[in-house]
Amino acid sequence: MNISVFGCGYVGLVTAAGLASLGHIVTGIDTDKEKIQRLIQGQIPIYEPGLEPIVQKVLNKGQLKFTADYQKAVEDSVAIFITVGTPPKQEDGSADLSQVESVAKTIGAYMNSYKVIIDKSTVPVGTARRVQKIVQENLKSPMRFSVVSNPEFLREGSAVVDFMHPDRVVVGAESEEAKAVMAEMYRPFMLAKTPIIWTNLETAELIKYASNGFLATKITYINELSHLCEAVGADVLQVAKGMGSDHRIGPDFLMPGPGYGGSCFPKDTRALLATAYDHNLSLSIVEATVKANDYHKQTIAEKIHKTIGDLKGKTIAILGLAFKADTDDMRESPSIPVIQELIEAGAKINAHDPAAFNEAQAIFDSSINYIDDLYEAVKEADAIVILTEWGIYRELKLEQVKELVKKPIIIDLRNMLDPSATRQLGFHYVGLGRLERM
Ligand code: UDX
Repeated sequence: MNISVFGCGYVGLVTAAGLASLGHIVTGIDTDKEKIQRLIQGQIPIYEPGLEPIVQKVLNKGQLKFTADYQKAVEDSVAIFITVGTPPKQEDGSADLSQVESVAKTIGAYMNSYKVIIDKSTVPVGTARRVQKIVQENLKSPMRFSVVSNPEFLREGSAVVDFMHPDRVVVGAESEEAKAVMAEMYRPFMLAKTPIIWTNLETAELIKYASNGFLATKITYINELSHLCEAVGADVLQVAKGMGSDHRIGPDFLMPGPGYGGSCFPKDTRALLATAYDHNLSLSIVEATVKANDYHKQTIAEKIHKTIGDLKGKTIAILGLAFKADTDDMRESPSIPVIQELIEAGAKINAHDPAAFNEAQAIFDSSINYIDDLYEAVKEADAIVILTEWGIYRELKLEQVKELVKKPIIIDLRNMLDPSATRQLGFHYVGLGRLERM
């Protein structure tokens, strides 16, 4: 099937490469001509493990192409994905749909035969109906088309795996023709018995927000419990294990951390609330999640301050800048407010991160030191703070670290190290919700 994908960002690129590897002929389109040129050369502009080899493979096989020629891409395709950005508007957190609307106008203008237009960008409930209206208004001549909602559930850092092995495929489609196109597109998943949830447009759009809102709530729930664990002398990892062993709860997304960040949970929770407010409803649990996550991030800097004491002139080694491991993405990363507070308190920051330095430089500029070598980064540190769960921090050679630091203090906000083993080496170890005497 001939498919085009408008928007070669993190979702569009993974979707285009994934569909091409399923055997379809896919054309990626983007307004950024420089990005298109790099993609044609097989250069991937984003950090996403496992994406480059797949893109190069399907490029070489001629299954995937890139172009800035919108008209040809629309005319030659039977299915057209909209995978452009829907960033939050500053004022109320609702999603900015200008890019989606512009693509819908383009598709309408170049429509030359029946097409299925597929919203994959995370869009507020009701957007598919707006896209329908915009396409209709821009048709050069009366023509049949369908709009479908097919939300993505890709996690940064595991997006390729999440595309190729989805827990479910959600399809909001309201015509038999559109359903037939989507069934053919996702036939390999159907053959693999992946649940395909066929529903209407609004339900498909809401499933995406409802899922992210719940996941953000689940994480915030365990983050809040980590404070209670410290107060009552319980161990939050064991609490999470005890909870997660209940099949109704499940073990995933119960790992305490410095607060959720990224380009999705913060944006999607706010957009979900904006949709509720538009309908004179409030979602008090999601409201509480947003508030609790913001508060939790504030408590992180307080915990560091309390552990180290006066920060003026102190050297802090920050291990991990990205909002999570296996990505270079710094959007709403908890490291941003934490580092800003430490600098304001007079600390010197030596930062390490395997992938996020480019993104971080755009935020911190020269206010922090970027140190490639992990053991250089901890040299002369008055304290080490682990903020991102990169695997290499779990493998830290603590004896070597002990020789290098000025003071043996480790504040482990991802609970990556073993508290008793670390303390036995003479470190003052502070975890998140961990038992002090363990
Ligand atoms: C999320 C959703 O998981 C994905 O389905 C959706 O399509 C996009 O948004 P992403 O934001 O890339 O994906 O990352 P995710 O792995 O969900 O982590 C989100 C945040 O929660 C990160 O800040 C991460 O550090 C944090 N997190 C996650 C925890 O603190 N604890 C956990 O147990 C899991």
